This record gives sequence, structure tokens and C-alpha cells, in this order.
Amino acid sequence: MTCDVQPIGTIYSPFGEPAGTPIQPVFSDDTPGRVEVLAPYAEGLADLDGFDRIWLLYWCHQSPGAKLRVVPYRDTQEHGVFATRAPARPNPIGLSCVRLLRIEGNILHVSELDILDGSPLLDIKPYVPEFDSFPTVRSGWLAAKRTEREIADDRFHRI
Ligand SMILES: C[S@@+](CC[C@H](N)C(=O)[O-])C[C@H]1O[C@@H](n2cnc3c(N)ncnc32)[C@H](O)[C@@H]1O
Repeated sequence: MTCDVQPIGTIYSPFGEPAGTPIQPVFSDDTPGRVEVLAPYAEGLADLDGFDRIWLLYWCHQSPGAKLRVVPYRDTQEHGVFATRAPARPNPIGLSCVRLLRIEGNILHVSELDILDGSPLLDIKPYVPEFDSFPTVRSGWLAAKRTEREIADDRFHRI
């Protein structure tokens, strides 16, 4: 079985390193960013402008490498990496629901990012509340979160 994933563009943000970057878009401010979609894929952006929010899937290119147990940003204790949103994963794929401000050709102007500058873009999907929002479900260890952290430190910094 092959699994051939190639970048379809690049995400540009003001965040050059993990420390100081929001840990999720919801903790970000209106700081603008940009998504540049490679020309061969630009046609696929048709009709995306009607959506206020989009999912960006990207390669966490500055990931320190996979760890199967991590101390995530919102706790002081270890959890299995698949029970967290930490970037130190076997396939370091990030998933962020950002605000779409406008589209100019193959450039998406976005805000509310938790993404490092230069991250390779893997995919874009519209955020659809009817499909993507389950506000009453359980959220595991996060329900008893031991920290209120909103901004990353350097624990997942590549050395
Ligand atoms: C906790 S992760 C969550 C990322 C995404 N929202 C998710 O849930 O998959 C957010 C942190 O990942 C780090 N990060 C973002 N882009 C990265 C990249 N390209 N390489 C490595 N780390 C990255 C930043 O430190 C950011 O604060």
C-alpha cells in the first residue's frame, strides 16, 4: 500500500517557532496569515469564498519527531499522543480551523492561526457546523485540564 501525500501549497504566518504560538486557533487573535495554493490546484478553490471558516491540514515540518506519550500543553501529566493534539506524531499532520478573510486568485487570506510559518499545506476543506460541531460530547482528560495554557512553549521544539 502506498500513501503518496504531496504538498499543495504553503502556509505563511507570523509565528517562526513554537514558543509564543497559540496552541489552537480559538486562542489566536486576528493576526493575519496567508495560504498560497500551488497553481495546478487553484481551480479547486472555486466556491470556497462562501465559507467563513476552513480546515487547513498541513505537515508539522518543525515537529521534533514522534513520541507515543506526551505531556500536552493543557496538562502536567502524560497522555498517549493520539489522545492529544500535540505535533510530535508518527505522521505529524496538523488540523486547524481558521477564519477565511478573502481569496485573491491562488492566495487565501486567513486569520486565527496556530500554524508555524512555512508549513507545507496538504489539504483545505470547508468548516461546516452541521458536520463538524458536536458541542455536547465528552472531551476526555481535557475536561479536567490542569492548566489553562493558550500559548505554546518550547516542549515540542525540534532540537
Ligand atoms: C497543539 S498544536 C495543534 C495544531 C492543530 N490545531 C491540531 O490540532 O492539529 C499547535 C502547536 O503546534 C506547533 N506547530 C504549528 N505548526 C507547526 C509546524 N509546522 N511544525 C511543528 N510544530 C508546529 C505550534 O507550537 C502550535 O502552538
